[in-house]
Amino acid sequence: MKSDVIPPLHDFERIVFFTGAGLSAESGIPTYRGRGGIWNKYNYEDFACQRAFDRDPEKVWDFHDTRRERVAACEPNEGHRIIADVLRAKPDCIVVTQNIDGLHQRAGVDGSRVIELHGSLWRVRCDRDGVVVANEQVPINPRRCACGAYWRPDIVWFEDMLDGRVLERAGDALLKADAIVSIGTSGVVYPAADLPRIAVSKGAASFEINLEDTPVSHLYQHRLRMPASVALTQLLRPRQI
Ligand code: APR
Repeated sequence: MKSDVIPPLHDFERIVFFTGAGLSAESGIPTYRGRGGIWNKYNYEDFACQRAFDRDPEKVWDFHDTRRERVAACEPNEGHRIIADVLRAKPDCIVVTQNIDGLHQRAGVDGSRVIELHGSLWRVRCDRDGVVVANEQVPINPRRCACGAYWRPDIVWFEDMLDGRVLERAGDALLKADAIVSIGTSGVVYPAADLPRIAVSKGAASFEINLEDTPVSHLYQHRLRMPASVALTQLLRPRQI
């Protein structure tokens, strides 16, 4: 059901901002799919899965160092800043992101309120014993842990399982939500793409911000077909008197 009157976000207290690569597009970071998408240029089976890493860790690190360099040169955009403002004003709001770029945190959102479903470009994990450390070097140096094994980007690659504790935290937040705002995600990667259904099934108000329809658009009451920063500005308009 699509309603024409789009309620302002001020009406809600427990908003989950469910974000994808499209939110960072306006910062100059390429999305994964669609025009200029990363997976149009690179085959993820060569660069973003454990098999590729086991086969050629140097090649996978070259790819991820290039991504670190690109992301480090970008800034959070107006969309990230608006979300950070809402979280500052409303303590029960949270971000559930598929993004690994860390731009929510760089826009001022405390890391404890950013649930990173797919990990982060800015953490690495020892490929032998799994210890995870923050690492923001561009490029990373050395590429090996002190134990001699390679550091592995702490990113959920294709065929990886998502961390159950992260999924549980996201599910809890969505169960409690009175609104879910999906921003810039193609809704084709599971289990992330299934998560908004938790909030919608509990009767939360639902907004999908995207340039185009997605396979999950039917879930959302309100569909804003415009760039993320424009849509978020509209949703944050003052309450109608
Ligand atoms: N404003 C709003 N939406 C936008 C904008 C914009 N300026 N630019 C692009 N989009 C939309 C596109 O229409 C598309 O639907 O953002 C979406 C980006 O889709 P993807 O590139 O598939 O990104 P995402 O949905 O986050 O990918 C999910 O796939 O490769 C894996 O792990 C990776 O987390 C990623 C997951």
